[in-house]
Amino acid sequence: MERLIVKGGTRLQGTIPVSGCKNAVLPIAVAAAILGDGVSVLHNVPNLTDVKTLSAVLEGLGATTKIKKSSLYIEPINHLEYEAPYELVRKMRASIYVLGPLVAKLGKAKVSFPGGCAIGPRPIDLHIRGLEHLGAEVTVESGYIYAQAKRLVGTEMYLMGPHGPSVGATANIMMAATLAEGTTVIRGAACEPHISDLARFLNAMGADIEGIGTSVLTIHGVKQLRGTEHTVISDDIEAGTFIVASAITRGDVYVKGITPQQIPAISEKLTEAGVELDWDDNGVRVTTPREIRGIDVTTEPFPGFPTDMQAQIMGLLCLASGTSIIMENVHTDRYIHAAELNRMGADIMLDGSKAVINGVGRLSGAPVMASDLRAGAVLVAVGMAAIGETIVSRVYHIDRGYESIEEKLNNVGANIKRVTDNGEET
Ligand code: EPZ
Repeated sequence: MERLIVKGGTRLQGTIPVSGCKNAVLPIAVAAAILGDGVSVLHNVPNLTDVKTLSAVLEGLGATTKIKKSSLYIEPINHLEYEAPYELVRKMRASIYVLGPLVAKLGKAKVSFPGGCAIGPRPIDLHIRGLEHLGAEVTVESGYIYAQAKRLVGTEMYLMGPHGPSVGATANIMMAATLAEGTTVIRGAACEPHISDLARFLNAMGADIEGIGTSVLTIHGVKQLRGTEHTVISDDIEAGTFIVASAITRGDVYVKGITPQQIPAISEKLTEAGVELDWDDNGVRVTTPREIRGIDVTTEPFPGFPTDMQAQIMGLLCLASGTSIIMENVHTDRYIHAAELNRMGADIMLDGSKAVINGVGRLSGAPVMASDLRAGAVLVAVGMAAIGETIVSRVYHIDRGYESIEEKLNNVGANIKRVTDNGEET
């Protein structure tokens, strides 16, 4: 397995371009491949292993996909394959997105139950409940979900779970409802920017969705959806990660291709911590003139502070003056990176969903392990600020959600090498 060797003591300076949003392109590609009756073309598609894995799932269902630079051409499924197999679904939870669209389009679906991962059990009861509200018959047997319905019928539903709205369930049910008979109202819908981007794509295909960007989505079912062309929004979490990377190295970086509306809570909390964000029409200049102050952060569904930025801000707060408290309210087990940061000299104490971070003056490089894509990203960011060398293993986690992370960072002054297990530079 590949590793990243990160030299410490670097200060980032220059421009980092933000790529397309992973969590938007995944459901949009599913909609294009299953719900559409014609070819769709997606632009600003990031070069990620998750995109490759999803393309394999869609090809397995009979769609044809072709990537050219950052454009993804998708020809919808043309035969009745309706099974998403375990060996692909286990690699990526987002494969569950095919469930609703397959039932809406083909009347049936057989999808492997997605596994849990390092950040918690990742249940899908809301996905199943939403489909049952639409009239589907859903059973779970030997690790597979079986769903079928002659025709889905629109209805009103409340889709909030114990930790708030569900991004995945909102995407799944919204996609399924586009071809249902009658009108569906989803109350407690997720409002993340990538859900709004998916809704806009579906409307461009001919769907009729109202309430985009709010927690009440109204979907008037239509008979057919056509192929269309769409430019995927930029990735708010990748942008937030690079903003933290600049701040943690006390750099001066222009993060290009993000708007303040996409990252309201990230901007707010980083400013509170002492990071300076100077916005213009194309992005934001990040400087850290003063020392970082300890702050309190609670992760919440959008527009709250995103859970996918929790590891990154924890890394920054390890070097703050004073104490910070993080409450992780979205995922039940998303602190594995804390132990890795403590290996580098951080002072983090965990107590259930609470993390107490006592800022320390400096961190030292060490061999550490990525446990999920955001945990991996923070280890790289902290490694750049630490003294000495940090070796980050299990880099495949990072590649799932970050397009050539070391290339983008080396272009602004980092010193990161990707090596194979036996130490050869790739
Ligand atoms: C999406 O996961 C993202 N993944 C995650 O990003 C992100 O952390 C999460 O949304 C929250 O923003 C993709 O978009 C591909 P949820 P998802 O359903 O849809 C509970 C990353 O770093 N829940 O919004 O799986 C669940 O346990 C990844 O890019 C139920 O209880 O998240 C969690 O506590 C990691 N029942 C909460 O809701 C359900 O049926 C939010 O989960 C579904 C979810």
